[in-house]
Amino acid sequence: MSTATISTTGAAAGRGLGYKTFSIGKFHFGRDEYFAHITYPKGLHIIPIDNFLRSLMRDVAWGFFYGTVNFDHVFGTVNHYGTVDMFAGLLNEGYRAAKQDYVETFNSKDLKKVFEDMLADWTNEGFDPFAAPDETGKAFGPKHGNNLKAIQRERMVAKRMVGLPNDLTYRTDAAGQTINRQFTDVPQDKPEVHAEPGFENEVHAFNMFAYVSRSDVTWNPSVVSCVHDSQFCSTTEEQILPITHGNDRVEWFIQASDEIIWDIEDGKTGRPRAKVTMKAGDVAAMPADIRHRGYSPKRSMLIVWENNDGTLPQRYASGELTPYPVEF
Ligand code: PHB
Ligand code: FE
Repeated sequence: MSTATISTTGAAAGRGLGYKTFSIGKFHFGRDEYFAHITYPKGLHIIPIDNFLRSLMRDVAWGFFYGTVNFDHVFGTVNHYGTVDMFAGLLNEGYRAAKQDYVETFNSKDLKKVFEDMLADWTNEGFDPFAAPDETGKAFGPKHGNNLKAIQRERMVAKRMVGLPNDLTYRTDAAGQTINRQFTDVPQDKPEVHAEPGFENEVHAFNMFAYVSRSDVTWNPSVVSCVHDSQFCSTTEEQILPITHGNDRVEWFIQASDEIIWDIEDGKTGRPRAKVTMKAGDVAAMPADIRHRGYSPKRSMLIVWENNDGTLPQRYASGELTPYPVEF
């Protein structure tokens, strides 16, 4: 497996823009005012820098996620949970036919380190890769400052149920977690709780919609409940999911508010499979052999239900399990 190097030489840095270049294995990464430039033994690939940083942010924050993270139709990563493949053209029919596909395997922690360093160096002051495009400054231009606060966000872990005394995770105006500009229609009323005397400190309920309406990030599923391998992840979505996610297991979506339109493609080739418009209340099972990208015209609430069982990728890949959960 290959090691990483970081340098301040290379095409983009050589132009005096102030950005470092990064290498791991035979992949080299540079950035200029507008683009990430990726070179690998079979070619050169270019991705608009705002899209690249939004994808990179998620690949880093999610530890390479479940299955495949396609930054676009050419470049991405496949998680093997301990190691990770980084590829160009691997999941693109045209690249495969022309034998222009290239893939290298890394220890996940080595690639994560390079991705973290690249994200830190290439993210300028004012640009937040997790924010909706209308709620952030720009990614472009020569290097100016950084935004470590935004890219090093820590997940909040509730020590007891959200909203009970001494819980620090309940979102409030006072803590700067205000209701998002597109969620002013979300009712903020609180459930009535009638606890038996003596249990006032133990029994609680809160308005999940009100809580989620205060999220300041987009396209970032956060685990809100976890029972064995069942993970319920709520997220707020606006504009475009920066990555195209290739599943290695079935994944369920529950559209909790508003509307998202999904492009569904074959996971290996990228051939179009379906368009799915999900309105509030709709539930969908995304098959184990597809990739998908969502479009949310207005900020919306989605619950992503993941199955964390580590045996699943192999069982789907071998054909032991059908790629869809139900036979009608
Ligand atoms: C997904 O790929 O399933 C996904 C990723 C991020 C989201 C929602 C869905 O915010
Ligand atoms: Fe997905």
